[in-house]
Amino acid sequence: MSSREAYVRALPKAELHLHIEGTLEPELAFRLAQQHGVVLPYASVAELRAAYDFTDLQSFLDVYYALADVLRDADDFYELALSYLQRAHEQGVVHAEVFFDPQTHTARGIAFDTVVAGLHRALTEAERRFGMTHRLIACFLRHLSAADAMLTLDAVLAHRQIIAAVGLDSAEAGHPPSKFVAVFERAREQGLLAVAHAGEEGPPAYIREALDLLAVRRIDHGVRCEEDAKLMQRLAREQIALTVCPLSNVKLGVFERIEQHNLKRLLEAGLCVTVNSDDPAYFGGYLLENYLAVERALGLTSEQLATLARNSIEGSFLDAVAKRRWLTAIDECARGELAH
Ligand code: HPA
Ligand code: ZN
Repeated sequence: MSSREAYVRALPKAELHLHIEGTLEPELAFRLAQQHGVVLPYASVAELRAAYDFTDLQSFLDVYYALADVLRDADDFYELALSYLQRAHEQGVVHAEVFFDPQTHTARGIAFDTVVAGLHRALTEAERRFGMTHRLIACFLRHLSAADAMLTLDAVLAHRQIIAAVGLDSAEAGHPPSKFVAVFERAREQGLLAVAHAGEEGPPAYIREALDLLAVRRIDHGVRCEEDAKLMQRLAREQIALTVCPLSNVKLGVFERIEQHNLKRLLEAGLCVTVNSDDPAYFGGYLLENYLAVERALGLTSEQLATLARNSIEGSFLDAVAKRRWLTAIDECARGELAH
């Protein structure tokens, strides 16, 4: 292991943009398919991996939604989540804010309660075993109607004690944040926090809408903010965290090559940029691999790597005491590295 890798691994990090369905590795998908008698449209793990040659967001979502069909009972969601949490813990993730897509499951007849029960069991076990904290975030599928999202919000509110926030994901273009104003308003009135995917494939205007109409605390992706200088200045001034996902962006063609990624420019413009893995089973790497990919391709300094870790803590929904604790630990880790 290179010393750089050891340093990035040792930095306490929060992961803020992680779809639990996107951690479904092909091996687990095939095992669960067999167990539940689900016929997958792929003959083998190798054939499935070959289908991960995405051209854009929709080409990924087609495979991602198809594969989620193997998740049937609470044990499946538990195993899925615990595998991710174990791996994240080994990579120095101390806090995970985990997305799930309720409608992907309820539309197939899997009860909301089943999904949440499995996920919650894994999250509390990771807390007990690894000391890893978490928040659970329920995302609405934006290609579905606002009425469907509102019905989903009823189920979210019935689990208020274990769901911290709502989010917005799926096909972005043509489904602006403004479509979901009433849903987010009700969620916030009920004390839930809000985040939304914006500015991945959609225009900078969607980032503005997410901030102004949905009152989100973070922007998921947000990389297309660079097309709007005023918006960039606002994001820097207000220190709105962007949950950037470098390997995802290359896999889905947001940037052709990792060397062209704008993460370093956004960071140097003073934005609160964070690094995340999005759907690691599909995009070729978990959190550590995402950090190392940008570190190598963009030439980030040790101090910039520490800033990314600090931003992940600052941008999280942890309380002030927990944030202070991790920020102090990051400072110590960075001082140790710079003294080398
Ligand atoms: N964008 C939109 N929807 C998603 C993503 C993403 O990156 N990952 C999983 N659902
Ligand atoms: Zn995402």
